[in-house]
Amino acid sequence: MNEQQRLDNQRVNSPDKKSAKDYSKYFEAVYIPPSLKDAKKRGKEEVKYHNDFSIQKEFLGMGTGRKFYIRTYGCQMNEHDTEVMAGIFLGLGYEVTDQAEDANVILLNTCAIRENAENKVFGEIGHLKALKREKPDLLIGVCGCMSQEESVVNKILEKHHHIDMIFGTHNIHRLPNILHEAYMSKEMVIEVWSKEGDVIENLPKVRRGNIKAWVNIMYGCDKFCTYCIVPYTRGKERSRRPDDIIQEVRHLAAQGYQEITLLGQNVNAYGKDFDDIQYGLGDLMDEIRKIDIPRVRFTTSHPRDFDDHLIEVLAKGGNLMDHIHLPVQSGSTDVLKIMARKYTREQYLELVRKIKAAIPNVSLTTDIIVGYPNETEEQFEETLSLYREVGYETAYTFIYSPREGTPAAKMTDNVPMAVKKERLQRLNAVVNELSAAAMKKYQDQIVDVLVEGESKNNPDMLAGYTSKSRLVNFKGPKTAIGKIVKVKITDAKTWSLNGEIVEELQQVEVN
Ligand code: 5AD
Ligand code: SF4
Repeated sequence: MNEQQRLDNQRVNSPDKKSAKDYSKYFEAVYIPPSLKDAKKRGKEEVKYHNDFSIQKEFLGMGTGRKFYIRTYGCQMNEHDTEVMAGIFLGLGYEVTDQAEDANVILLNTCAIRENAENKVFGEIGHLKALKREKPDLLIGVCGCMSQEESVVNKILEKHHHIDMIFGTHNIHRLPNILHEAYMSKEMVIEVWSKEGDVIENLPKVRRGNIKAWVNIMYGCDKFCTYCIVPYTRGKERSRRPDDIIQEVRHLAAQGYQEITLLGQNVNAYGKDFDDIQYGLGDLMDEIRKIDIPRVRFTTSHPRDFDDHLIEVLAKGGNLMDHIHLPVQSGSTDVLKIMARKYTREQYLELVRKIKAAIPNVSLTTDIIVGYPNETEEQFEETLSLYREVGYETAYTFIYSPREGTPAAKMTDNVPMAVKKERLQRLNAVVNELSAAAMKKYQDQIVDVLVEGESKNNPDMLAGYTSKSRLVNFKGPKTAIGKIVKVKITDAKTWSLNGEIVEELQQVEVN
């Protein structure tokens, strides 16, 4: 839906508290569903940058005496969108709560990447029905990637009438208006724009914690890997201007953050959409490494766009971490071709060789999909052999999940689910083996750990991460939280490390 359609929609949908809910009209003239087809059309229009977000006067105080609760599913991009929505809620005068039962507004910030992610959300939508019955004034909204899919919106319209709002990933800045409409209207408020193009710079954010922060550097993805829904739900690639990013990172450094992660669906395409400057991720990292912040990471990379300049800059080390997440998806050139990944097994291995040559102690992690339509046993074995050849520290592994609207979902598939599951198990056995071997190397070593807080399973222990993103649990004083301390590893397990602090904390306390 575009701006004009939204205005028309609003007129027909004008708040009328007395009208009974009548969803049939959404299917007639009024409601224009989000369209994956429209989302695929990449406009030539320039990206517009806005710095004019403000909460309209009439909405100030909307949240007085009310609480909000946001449940976030999926990736760091969603986590960060939640921080923005929380910022808007606070601007409207709401208070945060971490109990859905206490909230006056509940948002589900959803993920569409695989079917099981969506099933979880529909499960939660079902659960919330009872709460809505108990508290009829409660507003429930569905946002994030699932709301960009017409099938999801239609299902909610048909079956889940207790949902009050559905809004898309390009509509977050419209949250005050959407809430206002939801309070005024008995009907479900739906605002999902299929196409986008703009970057809004000055949205408020409430960051979770004060140790690590995410910084968006770009939005969207134009890669259209044949299995992936993201280019449809997140729109076209558009980069934030370098100055805005650098200013945000400087500000975070001044506030004492210890780590930032630069975020994008395909960060290596950063800057490709600028037509006035030649500026890529390597250039950006080269600037950011000069900022006084101890740890800088980025995610997620696409091997195709990972260029030599970026490798050269990463090799300078310093605050640029020696860990690169480099999704490969498959070790078979034929499968990669069907996935439209735009690189071969050999090209990927060549990239790995270059990275290792430039950054000898680098650790690599990856994402892999098994059971792609028609994947043969030999092709799967190529994935296993590539895994060993690269020597990843660990990986996220998935069974292929067809996503409606993507090219792969239309492919006939001769691989039975039992075979897919068995392949996943075989791959995971290799992942475990290599992870355990990589962890063994840490035995008796001293590592730098950014301490994030108490350990999940034992409040007497602290937990944090190494520069290579490995979890370390150790005994140490609470004053170490938020600091980078030296820890000696006493016990290397498959997925985490145990250790003890070796540093005198005077130094830490002075900081
Ligand atoms: N099925 C299974 N896994 C998928 N991913 C993305 N789309 C799908 C899908 N349809 C995985 C990829 C990606 C990660 C974030 O999720 O491995 O890198
Ligand atoms: Fe999806 Fe990543 Fe491929 Fe983009 S590059 S289509 S986000 S898998």
